[in-house]
Amino acid sequence: MCGIVAYVGPKDAAPILLEGLQRLEYRGYDSAGLAIVNSRSLKTRKVKGRVADLAAAVPAKFKGTIGIGHTRWATHGAPSDVNAHPHLDQEQRIAVVHNGIIENADELRRRLEGEGVKFESETDSEVLSHLVGRMVKETDSLREAVLRALKSVVGTYGIAVVDAQRPGEIVVARNGSPIVLGLGEKEMFAASDVAALIRYTRQVVHLEDGELAVIKADGFNTFTSDARETAKEPFTVDWDAGHYDNGGYEHYLLKEISEQPDTVARTLRGRIDDRFHIAHLGGLNMDARETRSFRRVKIIGCGSAYYSGQIGAQLIEELARIPADAEPASEFRYRSPVVEPDTLYVAISQSGETYDTLAAVQELKRKGGRVLGIVNTVGSAIARETDGGIYLHAGPEVSVASTKAFTSTAVAFALLALHLGRVRDLSPADGRRICDGLRRLPEQIKEILTLEDRIRELAKKYADAPGMMFVGRVRGYPVAREGAQKLKEISYVHAEAYPASELKHGPLALISPELPTVAVVPDDELLDKNLTTLGEIRARHGRILMVGHRTSEAADDCIVVPRNEVELDPILLTIPLQLFAYHAAVALGRDVDRPRNLAKSVTVE
Ligand code: F6R
Repeated sequence: MCGIVAYVGPKDAAPILLEGLQRLEYRGYDSAGLAIVNSRSLKTRKVKGRVADLAAAVPAKFKGTIGIGHTRWATHGAPSDVNAHPHLDQEQRIAVVHNGIIENADELRRRLEGEGVKFESETDSEVLSHLVGRMVKETDSLREAVLRALKSVVGTYGIAVVDAQRPGEIVVARNGSPIVLGLGEKEMFAASDVAALIRYTRQVVHLEDGELAVIKADGFNTFTSDARETAKEPFTVDWDAGHYDNGGYEHYLLKEISEQPDTVARTLRGRIDDRFHIAHLGGLNMDARETRSFRRVKIIGCGSAYYSGQIGAQLIEELARIPADAEPASEFRYRSPVVEPDTLYVAISQSGETYDTLAAVQELKRKGGRVLGIVNTVGSAIARETDGGIYLHAGPEVSVASTKAFTSTAVAFALLALHLGRVRDLSPADGRRICDGLRRLPEQIKEILTLEDRIRELAKKYADAPGMMFVGRVRGYPVAREGAQKLKEISYVHAEAYPASELKHGPLALISPELPTVAVVPDDELLDKNLTTLGEIRARHGRILMVGHRTSEAADDCIVVPRNEVELDPILLTIPLQLFAYHAAVALGRDVDRPRNLAKSVTVE
């Protein structure tokens, strides 16, 4: 989503803000802007377009050592120079950047307009600058003005505010949209994502919902919305700036796909016990007794995270024999779910900040549910809200489309399933089989990556189809869903995923030479059934690209991947579909890392 960056210290703020905004561009990017305080006045630049356009619009003499910046992903008001942040108050004293949605913006706007305020933009965010502008005149304290202004606001926000009359401090606040402080040497940073800070500092402090901070060059203090001071300990982020480089790859997406042998190895590191054939998952914070007590597992996540949760549910049912299912967190949170004490809830999130998932976790916690997190971003909101969990250690994902976090999540679920299974009925022999299978994954992923040239050719062959069908049965179905998701989001080719078993109940009517099918066909006990489905598609003159463990005459083209244990095969079958989507998108000339209309880490409802 939108990105925020703020700086106060001895250096020129503009280059630091622009560099930070560039790092945040992956979150949202239809416009960008910044405001610098200099000689008790505000200098601002805002443009529709990329951060590079903003950098080009910032003159060399844009000097000042305190400022705030923003990349915007439009929610209220179309992308335009005027709707870009920062927004100012009428006296041009206060500048505000905002992520989130102000739900009562219309009402506040009417009230302020009634008091004579003239609005410049169509955004909900502009009410904030006017509210703070009014309050600062009453209180002559930026901290107090922000506290008071936020009292009349309903909605979600991460904000950074500067006051031209107080050129030494920035006030930031969080409610449902992340804010992290970065501690430097006689300088302070704040941002919506550590990515913006990592070049300057790895010492960070995450704000909680309802928390605010005043940052100055020589430090910070944090407090709650009712002005109670809070004590925060900084922690060291274990990612560095190198993680955010494209490593010489043409796109971050290809880099992230190619990293998977390492990222999967990192998810597994130190977690497999070869003596007892169990998984070591200390972060779950559960003893064996509690681990045995659950009679159901409910998994929630959004988008690709949800599909990886479907793989997870299957692994848990198969290995631990506990009924498990996955549901989109975005649906779960709205349907007043029944929360039971003997159900283990697992929330999945790469970013750890997805608002729908966070809201679902908060609802579960409120109802007394036991919630684990499978999260990539250490210290993120979902990691903090959950009772324990498994960190992926996959490193930051920069490309909007998720790849390495998907596979690492599926691997984390295999570990969780092994853990739950081995305190129940999973035999040592089966435990060993899964441990051995997990260990083989990184090398097998490397092997699959060597198929890239062939997959590129296949992607070119199929990329001009107006749409594609993806099918899979049981273990193959979540893989098909993720394959369709990757294709549609980065290539804009319409793709629909169906359980192979459901084709004949309707969608078979769509099959024609114009609608090719990608069929996920592992060599498991359902192989014959899947091959029969391919025959049915073939009989309707549908073209078929089969992804599996063997070739078949029923298919026009086949991608053959190495076999692992049947339970773990979905992890490997996903990789060729990522490469297929990537090369289809490249063949169609798409903006692979920044697909239209999408943003990474959806921190609004
Ligand atoms: C798809 C994709 C999204 C995310 C979803 C959840 O490639 O990236 O569907 O998986 O928005 O994001 P996280 O995992 O950050 O909660």
